[in-house]
Amino acid sequence: MNYKLAYAIGFHPWEDLADHPPFADKLLELVACEEDGYGPPYGAALDLGTGSAVWGVALAKRGWEVTGIDSVEKALRRARERIDAAGVEMRLVQGDVTALREAGVGSGFRLLLDTGTFHGLTDTQRAAMGDEVSAVAAPDATLILDCFAPRNRGPLPRGASRADVERAFTGWRITELEVADTQPDQIARLFRFDERFYRLRRK
Ligand SMILES: C[S@@+](CC[C@H](N)C(=O)[O-])C[C@H]1O[C@@H](n2cnc3c(N)ncnc32)[C@H](O)[C@@H]1O
Repeated sequence: MNYKLAYAIGFHPWEDLADHPPFADKLLELVACEEDGYGPPYGAALDLGTGSAVWGVALAKRGWEVTGIDSVEKALRRARERIDAAGVEMRLVQGDVTALREAGVGSGFRLLLDTGTFHGLTDTQRAAMGDEVSAVAAPDATLILDCFAPRNRGPLPRGASRADVERAFTGWRITELEVADTQPDQIARLFRFDERFYRLRRK
């Protein structure tokens, strides 16, 4: 998917999911599991493919020290506006999720979140992202991924299966697999997103 073009023309429907309780509540429930028995502050979190920081800001509001990375400049401009409007602290980095160390995101992340980036990458990119995530994650880290089911959808993300996730994130194990409910989104129904949340812990 050409995200540079999408942001340039103002096409970013994924941002609306923050206002969709079945999706947002389930995602934040998964996040809450990582907060039990801690702070705030809960520690360092990395929002992979942060876009306009919809979820990064949500994490920052809850008490996470958030860094967001995205490759698209316009997305990061929107992210800066959202962060300032929310009055929270969140660090933004322009770079590629397949080269996190080169981008200088830092390390020791206890929570890593990806809502919609991994599932659109090529196999080679996925493997690189997996290696990079492992390199910057804390030893007790949790990774939450939101992926469409695998399917040919033209220019839209092709999705990822459980096996795709396991192949890319060796050294991690899937501890939860939940429906990411986007109903009644007509685009999701038309392109059969059949979206899922994966929760992974380091082995
Ligand atoms: C579907 S959007 C989701 C954005 C955000 N996570 C959200 O849920 O609102 C996917 C995001 O991943 C970013 N992205 C795609 N490939 C990337 C890559 N290789 N490195 C960094 N960001 C990438 C896009 O620019 C886009 O902002």
